[in-house]
Amino acid sequence: MASFETLPPHVLVLFGATGDLAARKLFPGLYRLAAAGRLPEDYRVIGSGRHSPGSDDDFRTQVGDGLRKTVDDLDDELLASFLDRISFQTSDADDGSDLAKAVREAEEQLGDDVRRLVYLSVPPAAMPGMIAMLGREDLTERARLVMEKPFGLDLESARELDRSVKEVAEEDQVFRIDHFLGKEAVQNILALRFANGLFEPAWNRHSLASVQIDVPEDLGMEGRGSFYESTGCLRDMISTHLCQLLGFVALEDPGRFEEKAVRDAKSQVFADLQPLDPARVILGQYDGYRDEDDVADDSDVETFVAIEAHVDNDRWRGVPFYLRTGKRLAVSDRVITLRFKGPDCTLFDVDEDGTCPAPGSLPPNDLVLRLTDDAEIHVELRAKRPGPDMELVPAVMHLHVAEAANGSSPLEAYERLLLDVMRGDQTLFTRADEVDRLWQVVAPVLEHRPEVQPYEQGSWGPRAASELPDGGWQLEHSPSHG
Ligand code: BG6
Repeated sequence: MASFETLPPHVLVLFGATGDLAARKLFPGLYRLAAAGRLPEDYRVIGSGRHSPGSDDDFRTQVGDGLRKTVDDLDDELLASFLDRISFQTSDADDGSDLAKAVREAEEQLGDDVRRLVYLSVPPAAMPGMIAMLGREDLTERARLVMEKPFGLDLESARELDRSVKEVAEEDQVFRIDHFLGKEAVQNILALRFANGLFEPAWNRHSLASVQIDVPEDLGMEGRGSFYESTGCLRDMISTHLCQLLGFVALEDPGRFEEKAVRDAKSQVFADLQPLDPARVILGQYDGYRDEDDVADDSDVETFVAIEAHVDNDRWRGVPFYLRTGKRLAVSDRVITLRFKGPDCTLFDVDEDGTCPAPGSLPPNDLVLRLTDDAEIHVELRAKRPGPDMELVPAVMHLHVAEAANGSSPLEAYERLLLDVMRGDQTLFTRADEVDRLWQVVAPVLEHRPEVQPYEQGSWGPRAASELPDGGWQLEHSPSHG
C-alpha cells in the first residue's frame, strides 16, 4: 500500500461541492489530510454542480467559512494555501464540456503523473445522467470514481446504474463509499475478534443468542426532507450502513486485510443473508415529519426501521440479527451488542434440594461495541458481591480504545476513505455484487411494505419495535445507562 508521502499529484472533482456533505465532511476531511501532510504535494480541487456559487473567490470564501465552523484548530496559512487550490466549474448531465476543459487545464499544471479523482455526491436519480456525461467527456479515463449511496433505489435501478457505470469504467476504478466502514471503531471489530483468542472461539451460534446493531439518532431532517422523501430510512441506513456493519461482524476470517479478501468475505455474508421477512420488519415515522420542509403532507416515508435478519450459514444459523435505526429518537448512538447465551443451569440457579426450577435465570452477558468517535468496548458480567455470602453483583469490564492507544490520532471516516481512494485501496468500499445482493435482501420489504407506524419525537420508536425479541434496546444502550 502506498504511503502518503509518495502519493502522485491529484485533480479532485467534487460534484455536489456546494452541498451539505461537502461542507460537513469532504472539505473538512481534505483540509485535515492537508494539515497532517497526507495529501499529495500537489493537487487541485474543482468543485462542480448545476448552480454557480459565484466567482472562484466566492466559492473559496464559502468553503473557508464552512471550514471555520467545522475544524477546530484551523491554521490561517495552511487554509490560504488549501483554498488557493480550489476552484468551481458548473456542469450538468447534459453539458460537462467546460468542466472537462477545466480538469485538463489543471492536469497540465500538475504534470504527467497526475491522477484524477471524481467524487459524485449527487442524489440517486441524478447519478446515471452524470455518469453518462463523464463518459462522453472522457472524464472517466484514468479516473477513480467515488459514488455516494444509495446505489439506486431498488434492485432494478441499481442494476441499471451499474450497467451505466460499467459502460464508462472498470470495477477497479469504482469506489462505492459507505462511510461507516471508514470509522476506526468499525475496523476495530476485526482487530478485537481476530487479534484476541478470547472472542473468536465464541463468535458463533454455539455461544451467541443474538446480535444487535443499533444506530438511534436524535437529529431529524436537518434540511434533507427532499432527500428523505426519495429514499427513506430503509435505503438511507439499513441496506447500506447497518448491513455493512452486519457484514463486518459476521464475516469469516478473510486471511488478510486486503481488498479482495475482505470484500470476498463480506460478500459471502450477504450471499448467506436471507431476504427479509416483512412480518419481522417495523417501519415508523416520527410525529411532525410531515411538517418538515420539502415533505409531503401525506408522506408515508419511514424515518425508523427495525428488522430481524438471518445469516444462513454454519456459523450463524439460528442467531437473529436485530438492526434498528431512526431519526428523532431519544439519543444518538452507534452500538453493536453481541448477546451471549447463558449457561443452562448453574450453581446460581439450583434450589437447596438440588433441583433447577428456572434454568438460565441469570441475565445474559453482553459484549457491547460502541462505535462512536471515542470508541468503547464493554462486557457486562456478574461477579461475587464482596461479603460473607455467595451473592452476585452486576459488573462491567470497560475498554476506552483512545486511552489504550494514547497519543494516536484517529482519522474521521471520510478523511480515511478519501485517503484510501487516493491510495487506490478498495478494501473499505462496497463492491457491485454486494450492492446487488443487498437489494435482493430488502426487496420483499419494498414490495410488501409494512404499515408505517407513528412514534413520538424523543422516544425509542414505535411501540411495536420493542415487540421484536431483544427489543428492550433503550435500557441497555442508552449512554446514560451504559
Ligand atoms: C448518512 C445518512 O449517510 O449517515 C444520515 O444519510 C445519517 O441520515 C448519517 O444521519 C450518520 O452518519 P454518522 O457518521 O453521523 O454516524
